[in-house]
Amino acid sequence: MTLRGREIILGVGGGISAYKSADLIRRLQDHGFLVTVVPTRSSQNFVGNATWAALSGREVHDDLWSNVHSVPHIDLAKKCDAIVIAPTTADLLSRIATGRADDLLTNIILASTAPLILVPAMHPEMWLNAAVQANVGLLRSRGVVVVEPDEGRMTGSDVGVGRYPESSRIIQTLSETLDIKADLKGFNVLVTAGGTREAIDPVRYIGNHSSGKQGFATAFAAAKRGAKVTLIAANSDQPDIEGVEMLRVSTADQMHRAVTDHFEEANVVIMTAAVADAKPLQVNDGKLDKNSYHSIELTPTVDILKEIGQRKGDRVLIGFAAQTGEDGLAKAIEKYAQKNLDLIYLNDVTGGAIFGSDQTSGMIVRSGEVVEELHGVSKLTLADKLLDFAAHKLGLAHD
Ligand code: CTP
Repeated sequence: MTLRGREIILGVGGGISAYKSADLIRRLQDHGFLVTVVPTRSSQNFVGNATWAALSGREVHDDLWSNVHSVPHIDLAKKCDAIVIAPTTADLLSRIATGRADDLLTNIILASTAPLILVPAMHPEMWLNAAVQANVGLLRSRGVVVVEPDEGRMTGSDVGVGRYPESSRIIQTLSETLDIKADLKGFNVLVTAGGTREAIDPVRYIGNHSSGKQGFATAFAAAKRGAKVTLIAANSDQPDIEGVEMLRVSTADQMHRAVTDHFEEANVVIMTAAVADAKPLQVNDGKLDKNSYHSIELTPTVDILKEIGQRKGDRVLIGFAAQTGEDGLAKAIEKYAQKNLDLIYLNDVTGGAIFGSDQTSGMIVRSGEVVEELHGVSKLTLADKLLDFAAHKLGLAHD
């Protein structure tokens, strides 16, 4: 499952406004983006690598000739979802327009197929110079996004067009280019994923086939939309998501505790996890001998969703129902009501379908009605549909 859309390379050119990119990094992170900074050599006369490393929380790449074995320009170029260069100097505009590849940043630009957004900032005379404007025109004709500079006071006494724009305008351009909305900024989203395991003895457990992919896709999509996300994952081999608070659990009791601990601050709870409905009454200390292994006495686990449903307040609560057979919809409608949900997704898992897959098929159900039927869509698509609903509900609640 490839989760894409958050990785940004921030190229920093050698202009006095380079310090403004420090604010840009923070604002990009607020919107759910993950930023890797690639400064040019001349920009380091204005701001040093330590600033970029501290703000981005990542290694700063500034040299084509370091770590050559890992081919950094190709690696970075492939990984990123967009390249933003702020500030872009007149020299950088010229080098990009002519296809030069004389430093790490220009190599990445040539090696990447991701959208390129340039944020020029320079003195008005330089910006209006015919050569600079010709480069801007050429780059735009090739599909490069060149943000218009702001008008106002420059360094020194000059006034005119050429100022580094507000971070919000750059992020708006980036979000429009990538077609991303940050409608969940300022909201906390709690997601559960995977399948719990209930020990029978030190070797065996009662578990299920949930891979965690739907929950991970949901957490990723929520983070991409600017939410502060906590993901409680049970026994999933999906890798941690950067920028998401990750909690790994195993049993239904552990998941119950983790959800309870994070429920208060949550605005949206999406329970994709397959939680065991029962656990062995006794867990044997030693491995059970096969001759004494005829039946296991079970005791129910807490129905987490039902419990938080009873004290949900104005939170948005979304549940999942994994069903087989004809009466799936009736059961999902019943669970929707019993657990006091705002939405439930009915997965048809007949024959083990859906588990481990990157695709899902099922029905989005609300108040006894099927809102939408999905056939073989990606788990990210479903995640965004559920989050669209949550964002709409939160928006209404805040009117
Ligand atoms: N759930 C929960 N706590 C449990 C069991 C389930 O929070 N102990 C949540 C799941 O995360 C899911 C929904 O409740 O969002 C599923 O409800 P459940 O009644 O368990 O349905 P299924 O497991 O789909 O089916 P069944 O009732 O047949 O077990």
